Amino acid sequence: MGSRIFYIKTFGCQMNERDSEIMAQSLAAHGYREGQEISEADLIIINTCSIRAKAEQKVMSLLGMLRKEKKDRPALKICVAGCVAQQEGEQLLRRMPHVDFVIGTQNIYNIIELLEEQPGNKKVLTAMSDAYDIPRFIPEFQPENHLLPSLLARPFKKFVTIMQGCNNFCSYCIVPYTRGREISRNKDDIIDEVNVLVEHGVREITLLGQNVNSYGLANTVTRNGSPYSFPLLLKDVAQSGLKRLRFTTSHPKDLSDDLIQCFQEIEILCNQIHLPVQAGSDSVLKKMNRKYTVTDYLHKVDALRSSCPDIAITTDIIVGFPGETDRDFEQTMRLLEEVRFNGSFSFKYSDRSGTKSSGFGEKVTEKIKAERLSRFQARQDEISLEKNSAFTDTSMTVMVESINTKGFQGRSVFNHVVHVESLLPSAPGDLIDVTIFHAGQHSLQGRII
Ligand code: SAH
Ligand code: SF4
Ligand code: F3S
Repeated sequence: MGSRIFYIKTFGCQMNERDSEIMAQSLAAHGYREGQEISEADLIIINTCSIRAKAEQKVMSLLGMLRKEKKDRPALKICVAGCVAQQEGEQLLRRMPHVDFVIGTQNIYNIIELLEEQPGNKKVLTAMSDAYDIPRFIPEFQPENHLLPSLLARPFKKFVTIMQGCNNFCSYCIVPYTRGREISRNKDDIIDEVNVLVEHGVREITLLGQNVNSYGLANTVTRNGSPYSFPLLLKDVAQSGLKRLRFTTSHPKDLSDDLIQCFQEIEILCNQIHLPVQAGSDSVLKKMNRKYTVTDYLHKVDALRSSCPDIAITTDIIVGFPGETDRDFEQTMRLLEEVRFNGSFSFKYSDRSGTKSSGFGEKVTEKIKAERLSRFQARQDEISLEKNSAFTDTSMTVMVESINTKGFQGRSVFNHVVHVESLLPSAPGDLIDVTIFHAGQHSLQGRII
């Protein structure tokens, strides 16, 4: 038998992207090759997201399409992973009988076991434990993994997961149910992984977790018996020889002064933070169970800007949370003016079954949600453009991400996408100084100094 080919499709957040890499690496280490097309694959893995109804619909429609593929090629194996898999478990096999395997969010490290035990049988592996120990997993640079196209796509820039799960139970959110309790990864495993990545030419790392600020708090990770925290982890990771360090996501309630100071103290920490606020009304924030007020949030923003005056702040916003009045929404618009976010991701509230807010009355109509969303986004676009325009005629260092016929595309420390026309040779991962001559809403244009 020749080597088996897998195809992996990822929906959802960066945590899911990293989980897909881990599954791909396990498969590669066991003789699978990664294919680029569904039609050539013997095994299809769909890594799913259920954060909003729309995300889940996308997954379901792809799974629906695969029904025909399975009918035409009965030997094909279909595996569903990620948050929809965790949530649906056995039920998914009933709804989608052409699916062979369902693998939960804490089980991705066991993918080989799932595929290879009792071949031919359908199987569901979705056990979750509060005492889950994130396995040590650092096989990134075994020679066979060099053949993985999904890993080669951006060899200089990597995600490192530092924690799993979430304990916050924001009333609208499905994540605590699909990812389980908050568990911090062993700090030595994280640092070893970072060092291996750096040794192999990685220049930028983003540390990942649903709420990185509480790293080490839920199940305390200690070093030589002393307390350890996210700011300490950042400082240790910064010793690795990396050029750039980022992290995501931060919950405002856990953004400590020590962490805010890190922007001053750690040279390679990029001047950028994603700090989801969700809403600009205290009563909505309370119903969301966010555990901070608008005033608390504004204080954190001030503290960040005192520590790092040019820090780029981005956020997430939900419009149309149950009970959100016109007045509440105006307060979100006012917050936007007060903070002037560099950018934001904004969403219409989506009911997720099993969450607390799905049982709340006073649901906002689709029409009002759509109106609020488009008003918010239109104003955010204007602010993003104003913020970006302030960079015109300034210079900045860009890390090259991809090369095109005219030059390259890269990113600033603030996380702007920067397009540069250049005839000089450059490679992904290079750091190049440019002057900005044009600003758009979502990107900048620069030329080499
Ligand atoms: N852990 C991150 C967020 C992860 S989910 C944090 O707490 O900041 C990413 C974003 O999806 C959230 O910030 C929120 O804005 C949005 N979101 C989550 N559940 C949602 C829902 N039910 N409806 C609409 N948007 C939602
Ligand atoms: Fe969801 Fe809130 Fe946890 Fe973020 S902090 S993942 S929004 S429950
Ligand atoms: Fe989606 Fe799960 Fe991430 S619901 S946003 S893939 S944690």
